[in-house]
Amino acid sequence: MALINENYLKLKAGYLFPEIGRRVNEFIAANPDKKVIKMGIGDVTQPLAPSVIKAFHQGVDEMAKGDTFKGYGPEQGYAFLREAIAKNSYQDKGVNVSADEIFISDGSKCDTGNIQEIFGNGNKIAICDPVYPVYADTTVMSGKTGTCQTNGYYDGIIYMPCTRENGFIPELPTETPDLIFLCYPNNPTGTVASKEELKKWVDYATDKKAIILYDAAYEAFIQDNSIPRSIYEIEGARKVAIEFRSFSKTAGFTGTRLAFTVIPNELVAYDLLGNEYPVKPLWNRRQSTKFNGVSYPVQKAAAAIFTEEGKKEVAEVIAYYMENARIMKESLAATGYEVFGGENAPYIWVKTKNGMTSWDFFDKVLNEANVVGTPGSGFGPSGEGYFRFSAFADRENVLEAMERIKNLH
Ligand code: MLT
Repeated sequence: MALINENYLKLKAGYLFPEIGRRVNEFIAANPDKKVIKMGIGDVTQPLAPSVIKAFHQGVDEMAKGDTFKGYGPEQGYAFLREAIAKNSYQDKGVNVSADEIFISDGSKCDTGNIQEIFGNGNKIAICDPVYPVYADTTVMSGKTGTCQTNGYYDGIIYMPCTRENGFIPELPTETPDLIFLCYPNNPTGTVASKEELKKWVDYATDKKAIILYDAAYEAFIQDNSIPRSIYEIEGARKVAIEFRSFSKTAGFTGTRLAFTVIPNELVAYDLLGNEYPVKPLWNRRQSTKFNGVSYPVQKAAAAIFTEEGKKEVAEVIAYYMENARIMKESLAATGYEVFGGENAPYIWVKTKNGMTSWDFFDKVLNEANVVGTPGSGFGPSGEGYFRFSAFADRENVLEAMERIKNLH
């Protein structure tokens, strides 16, 4: 008899974004004449930068010739890309990360979920509420939780509410976690963490022998230079943190797929007797067994964002999205909404009016303005009564969507 993984039965609903897609498709089928503007899932709309496309083509051409053709690549990623990342994303900014600590992958979504596999099921996981739903869902799938309570919380997860009252910055939990997911700039609230804030977490993790799983997928959108882009800017972080970064939003790779994970050589976890084990070899073992790397042309394309031209082109696209965010934030505020985020992140976090629930607001905005956003409650119970707009959209759509929302009653 084939037994299923019953942890999957504990998951309370379908994954958030397909559920939104289902409702939107239903609406479009019933209203084929309506122009729906999508600002729900954070999916880029601008094409890949010219330098990236050029390198991508070159990579494909190399695959067409016997003397440059490549079969399986190194599981950890090609050295040329890992070295370019180490230099440009870290060392040139005074941050100590070396190429051998970088693992190239096809997405931070996969990595933030898969990483749980190398940590035992006895670990207590702490997550922010609201937050990117992958952390909670993969914790459930991995068997580290009980069932979902009526308040929307899974037994066994330590939730750290991020509310208007605490400025969407979590307090240190009262129950001690072993693994702590942090995401800055934050998805969905668009808030950022200062150096002092991150130092507090690094010191806490050091004291508790915990590990911080730091999702920095949106670091490229930070405008304020005093805000850390990497957790490794914080003293002591190399001993207690894994960092996840993505090319998806940074360089428009949502459909092309490339991300990386940094595991410092000093990072250790423990067995039940308290013996230390370096974490990096475990991840290497996992990846080399279950993953064969990202395709060569994609890695070649990714490396092009570190050329002088590539840097300029990518920065222009980021500036375009951040101008969208500015327009949206101003317009929504002028329409009377309480608005957060959007200054160092491509997400605008909006309080609904008159205590409307997130999903009711979703339906209203979809039905009356034909605009798609993401209900805050989909990111966790403390997101109830909030709504997320993504700044990844074409400018004319942003302007039109804001105009339509202004006219909502
Ligand atoms: C989001 O909209 O939260 C993200 O695009 C989802 C993702 O990156 O997987």
